[in-house]
Amino acid sequence: MMARGDSKVTGPGAADRAADWFAECYGTEPEGVWHAPGRVNLIGEHTDYNEGFVLPFALGQGVRAAVSRRDDGLLEMCSQQARASPATAPLSRLSPGSVTGWAAYPAGAAWAIREAGYPVGGASIAIDADLERGAALSSSAALECATALALTGVHGLDVDRRELAALARRGENEFVGVPTGIMDQSASLLCRAGQALLLDCRSGQASDVPLDLEAAGLVLLVIDTRVQHALADGRYASRRRACEDAARLLGVRSLRDVTDNPAAVGQITDPLLRRRARHVVTENSRVLETASLLRAGEAGRCGPLLTASHASLRDDFEVSWPQADVAVEAATAGGALGARMTGGGFGGSVIALTEAERAEGVRTSTSRAFSDHGWPPPRFLDAVPSSGAWRLR
Ligand code: GLA
Repeated sequence: MMARGDSKVTGPGAADRAADWFAECYGTEPEGVWHAPGRVNLIGEHTDYNEGFVLPFALGQGVRAAVSRRDDGLLEMCSQQARASPATAPLSRLSPGSVTGWAAYPAGAAWAIREAGYPVGGASIAIDADLERGAALSSSAALECATALALTGVHGLDVDRRELAALARRGENEFVGVPTGIMDQSASLLCRAGQALLLDCRSGQASDVPLDLEAAGLVLLVIDTRVQHALADGRYASRRRACEDAARLLGVRSLRDVTDNPAAVGQITDPLLRRRARHVVTENSRVLETASLLRAGEAGRCGPLLTASHASLRDDFEVSWPQADVAVEAATAGGALGARMTGGGFGGSVIALTEAERAEGVRTSTSRAFSDHGWPPPRFLDAVPSSGAWRLR
């Protein structure tokens, strides 16, 4: 079966490779194979858990889950990318903390779906991915979403994708224990090819925004800085707490409530909390401006908004890292229209928007800057706005 979007985006043979890996793990063919993509967040960082706006798009790369039902109530999981660490857990005894390591993500998805009352039974799961882990391209959400879609699919349950995104997030929040927002799971499940997804994280309203880079003669380069990004170390959680504290000081439910009144941030006397809040408030406006430009067919004019977002994340929210700052500088010096870190920060990737004919210059400039600093060379990926998750076979 083929549903949403273009089968080519996962690369030839992706379903076969996942099915072969399943056969290697369990000795039979899987009942089905599902794909869920990673994402690039074009703009709107650390705004989702403040009930603000985000503008991600799905990548062609992602995670495949090859799955068959089991009748013994067990969840058996193996991953091509973690061959030494297969995991097995009885579904009925899943509870936060009961599974650790990579398998906590698929187990967390299963747990959350069952907590919501859906009768998901045992399953054998084989995971295969072509998405770099730690590159801030949402490999965790892709793993959760591929699993969630596969488990509900194989057990014949038709769960609305927004609900599935919320359940995958609940698994990550409560089972894995990372207090992330709703952006990544929404992108993985709801995006469409050639579009970014403008998501209002308060109302849940999602709308497509055209992002046909090729037609505009543009390239969005993903620059993996090769500094591993991780959200589970407490720094992400501390940013989230600062935002909640700032909202409390302003007497509002969340920082979203002062988007239309950025001057309100000046009432916060604590300089650190004021900076954190200023990032969120200004970033929400940048998201809406970017979406307006894209809708007006002016993708080439989004560059300065991306660069301003980076400056805000670096100076006010303080989630950037040296390699990201150097990549942004080198990319813009090399001819990019704009550049910024993407994702939660503290490692991972930078994106650079550039005219297609200048992409090579941007790559060269960034690679040279990394080599001047004695850093391992960055990895480049052309980001193609692709379809959200679907069943491959
Ligand atoms: C991570 C989280 C998202 C979001 C971003 C920052 O990717 O999973 O929910 O908060 O960081 O924008």
